[in-house]
Amino acid sequence: MSPEPKAAHQSLRVRRSPALRGVCSVPGDKSISHRALLFGALCRGTVEIRGLGSGGDNASTAGALRALGVPIRVSGTLANVEGVGFAGLREAAAALDCGNSGTTMRMFCGLLAGRPFRSTLVGDPSLSRRPMGRVAKPLRLMGASIEGQSDPGTRDRLLPPLVIRGGKLRGIDYPLPVASAQLKSALVLAGLQADSETRIREPGLSRDHTERMLRFLGAPIRSDPEARQIVVDPTGWKGELVAAPVEVPGDLSSAAFLLVAAAVVPGSDVTVDRVGLNPTRTGIVDVLRAMSANIEVRQTGQAMGEPFGQVHVRWAGPLRATTVAGDLALRSIDEIPALAVACAMAEGQSRLSDLGELRVKESDRIACIVRELRRAGIEVTESPEGFAVIGSGGRPPKGGQVNADRDHRIAMAGAILGLLSEEETLVPSEDIATSFPSFADLLRGLGANLSLS
Ligand code: S3P
Repeated sequence: MSPEPKAAHQSLRVRRSPALRGVCSVPGDKSISHRALLFGALCRGTVEIRGLGSGGDNASTAGALRALGVPIRVSGTLANVEGVGFAGLREAAAALDCGNSGTTMRMFCGLLAGRPFRSTLVGDPSLSRRPMGRVAKPLRLMGASIEGQSDPGTRDRLLPPLVIRGGKLRGIDYPLPVASAQLKSALVLAGLQADSETRIREPGLSRDHTERMLRFLGAPIRSDPEARQIVVDPTGWKGELVAAPVEVPGDLSSAAFLLVAAAVVPGSDVTVDRVGLNPTRTGIVDVLRAMSANIEVRQTGQAMGEPFGQVHVRWAGPLRATTVAGDLALRSIDEIPALAVACAMAEGQSRLSDLGELRVKESDRIACIVRELRRAGIEVTESPEGFAVIGSGGRPPKGGQVNADRDHRIAMAGAILGLLSEEETLVPSEDIATSFPSFADLLRGLGANLSLS
């Protein structure tokens, strides 16, 4: 799996579409795939991964691991990772390219903080604007040296490229300043290499794939979701995880666009099969339900502690406005661009708050959502940590050129809005491959009227 060469300025042309109908599955969960590759590298033995995510972000993680000496073979959605353990990682000959992937860069900071060599982490222009001080600060407290670019304009003042000189680490007791699974995972990875216990306290429960998978692979980690604490105690641990086959469920964050499309395009009936249903990720289901969407969820199995199943949405008339805040905002953080489309088509005013983290995702997602909804003729007001939308009650949005700021989820949200528009909508398509390369094909398979040009 090498990152696909990006076609220059391809556009997805989206036109008003009839009802979407059908059963489909989406590519493997991006968050779980990153962890399967990375934790696979830390195992003794070979880890076979089925259903690996097909996007550019997961390819970045695989590429960076290979550069550290981990043999990885990928064929379609099947991967074989020959684990080398922490001790088997080798200094890379060149900078590790994390591409567009914040998860890769932050998790690798924790991984490399305990390795006795120098590593450089670089990213694309979007990743190069994302805050890394949140991860550098605790890792420095543990004993690692992490240098980056300082930028007085950003909140935590440290930007990529990062240079890490790893070495002996000590455990810490650390309250995270923000609920972040990437940050939490970086500290867990460093904690596994430390000489004493690490305790991580979270202000809110971010996605817990790291805890679930590591426990499954035999890592010395305990978590107490009620107390929002994770304890890593490597004392007496051999420093290797135990290989097991990994089965990655479909990505609910990708399915989100299809589910919202089915909830807003009249007459639609769409089922997504074998999709991940981890409760730290299912905020979208609760939000759509609160908006009176007809959505049914059926768990059909569990793999490595991760529940998965079927989600079925039947169009049931105009949606009702809603409120998203607090834990629900955290549990639907990556789905806000899709949910903004649902709010734009609903009856009444929706208020979405506690979303400050969206300002430092692949783009400033609050600013992008506000700009793109306004372009489509929807009334929206912006606040520092969220936005409010006066839904059109089903009146078609305006078409035209979507500016996604090279953010995959903004591009896909623009495409879903375009399914309802009288005029054609043009979506820059190349960035969609970051997480969901088959997005256009899948939508077309459900009956959407779109083409690539
Ligand atoms: C991710 C964690 C989330 C999410 C991101 C993927 C992960 O970010 O937004 O797309 O795989 O750990 P946080 O680190 O802010 O929770």
